[in-house]
Amino acid sequence: MLIHLLYVSQPVGPITTTVTSSILEVSIPNNKEKNVTGVLCQGSGLYMQVLEGERSMVNDLYSLIKADRRHKNVELLLLEDISERQYGQWSMALVHLSKDDPMVQMKHPEFDPYSATGKDAMKLIEDLIKMGSPIEPRIS
Ligand SMILES: Cc1cc2nc3c(=O)[nH]c(=O)nc-3n(C[C@H](O)[C@H](O)[C@H](O)COP(=O)(O)O)c2cc1C
Repeated sequence: MLIHLLYVSQPVGPITTTVTSSILEVSIPNNKEKNVTGVLCQGSGLYMQVLEGERSMVNDLYSLIKADRRHKNVELLLLEDISERQYGQWSMALVHLSKDDPMVQMKHPEFDPYSATGKDAMKLIEDLIKMGSPIEPRIS
């Protein structure tokens, strides 16, 4: 049974390229092995991540991620059954969130995922992906 799960969290300390690279270096091969796909959005003092895959795999991975001390205030926003993957081409794509992005401002002024509905937060990520170009970093 396929599900997708969305959570929001706050990085402990500033988000740096080094931290993100070290997360993705592990995530990409791990997710490939577990057949989990998704998107990691970072920026504006937040992480938002969509994980999609078999329910048990996604649940196990989420428990692991939740316990990671590189972020805090991890809050589950949405978990639901899906009939197909939305981000099937990405083991874990990276999307930069920026409050200064005029498109983000225009469409989602003062968007706060901690008080938004899960559906709205998921929609924001879809919009970001449509207007930005998500990258799946190459891990050598
Ligand atoms: C914001 C964030 C997102 C993460 N996403 C993933 C992910 O998609 N897949 C993954 O395997 N690990 C991810 N991790 C890292 C896991 O928390 C964990 O460190 C990693 O799976 C290695 O676990 P292990 O050392 O027990 O194998 C993420 C960590 C953070 C802070």
